Amino acid sequence: MIMSKNFAFGVGGLLAVAAIVAGWMLFSTPPPAKAQTMTVHKTPWCGCCTEWVDHLRDNGFDVVVKEAEDLSPVRAELDVPDRLMSCHTGEIEGYAIEGHVPAAEIARLLKERPQATGLSVPGMPQGSPGMESSNPPDTYDVVIFSPEQTGIYASYRGTQKLAGPAD
Ligand code: CU
Ligand code: CU
Repeated sequence: MIMSKNFAFGVGGLLAVAAIVAGWMLFSTPPPAKAQTMTVHKTPWCGCCTEWVDHLRDNGFDVVVKEAEDLSPVRAELDVPDRLMSCHTGEIEGYAIEGHVPAAEIARLLKERPQATGLSVPGMPQGSPGMESSNPPDTYDVVIFSPEQTGIYASYRGTQKLAGPAD
């Protein structure tokens, strides 16, 4: 008798704990968004890559830098086609980020989460983030790509966004 009474109390206690936990899960606010971590693969001698990493950090990204003399295995692994290649290759939350992509477009990508392999700024346009100099800035596209297709995600002149298809 006493044992079964204790048992009944025990189950009631467990249910009470479960209710408290469920209530806590319902009403607790989610933890603050943590900085998103990007892994950047670059060659040891690339200066503009380091400038771009600084641009990412200035815009709130955590960056882990990995150096390799040959980045083609990384590009192959991340499905970055040769025609979209630049000087460095980043990875963040399953997306490939090739070249001097402005941080704002990476943030937008992570918010919109389109089905895509990633973003690229092919080549090394003058005046793109990490490529600032006294030369006049180039106009260039931020390309969104997947194995099946590529499209224009945004257009820029230097670090200035131009009106694009999304605007
Ligand atoms: Cu570069
Ligand atoms: Cu680079």
